[in-house]
Amino acid sequence: MNRVSGKVALITGGASGLGAADARLLAAEGAKVVITDLQADLGREVAASIPDALFLEHDVRDEAQWQGVVAQTVARFGRLDVLVNNAGLVRFGNVEECDLDTFRLQMQVMVEGCFLGCKSAIPHMTKGANGPWGGSIINVASVAALKGISAIPAYSAAKAGIIALTRSVAVHCQEQGYAIRCNAIAPGAHDTPMTRQALDQLPQDNAGLDQVQAHGQGRPEDVANLVLFLASEESRQITGTHIVIDNGETVG
Ligand SMILES: NC(=O)c1ccc[n+]([C@@H]2O[C@H](COP(=O)([O-])OP(=O)(O)OC[C@H]3O[C@@H](n4cnc5c(N)ncnc54)[C@H](O)[C@@H]3O)[C@@H](O)[C@H]2O)c1
Repeated sequence: MNRVSGKVALITGGASGLGAADARLLAAEGAKVVITDLQADLGREVAASIPDALFLEHDVRDEAQWQGVVAQTVARFGRLDVLVNNAGLVRFGNVEECDLDTFRLQMQVMVEGCFLGCKSAIPHMTKGANGPWGGSIINVASVAALKGISAIPAYSAAKAGIIALTRSVAVHCQEQGYAIRCNAIAPGAHDTPMTRQALDQLPQDNAGLDQVQAHGQGRPEDVANLVLFLASEESRQITGTHIVIDNGETVG
């Protein structure tokens, strides 16, 4: 019940799917949670269902909004220990069909959003001086970063960018002597509004769809358990890596 007791966690894209499950589990394990999202009504609803949770409307592409969100988190709860860069979206269209604006939108939300999150949060995160632990950043990538899926080139590129960014951030924190770890997670298909929309929109003969059918879908709580582990001190020797959670989709 207390695996992250005393910690304060900020979760982007927390109004829905994986982010909402992360917020619920981190709070159940003792953390104070701040949920941010573009979807304000849904975000407020999720926050209202979690004791002491705070919702902040937030576009992860906006640097000024990031500064406001971090400042409000520290003002409300006095510290920031865990950042889950979870906000994301997917748009379909192979490399010949995908237009530049659609490509850029996905890079902005996921790569730039993740970059701005790390950049804005690190100066304010626990670095080992004011508690028994340092901080933990968890960046949400995808198995799409690790394999070719023709229908989502921009999404795949953005998620691969997140994994590379994660390594740089982890090394930077160590070089600076900050006790802040930074890891990525790479989920396969889990049952969320994004996955349901994807399964509706993908052509029935798409290879990505076949693999979802072959490996099944996890539940958001399965990913939340991995986020909880990375947020907690149990993972204190793990930084700069990515952990795949895909029921074997990428191994054979
Ligand atoms: N569900 C899966 O199978 C799966 C697999 C691999 C990776 N992921 C990743 O997990 C994360 C969560 O996905 P999900 O499945 O819960 O999807 P979801 O659509 O249920 O939730 C994503 C949330 O991100 C928010 N968001 C989108 N753009 C934003 C922006 N600019 N600023 C702030 N918030 C924004 C949305 O409003 C939404 O609430 C995403 O990064 C996604 O790419 C999901």
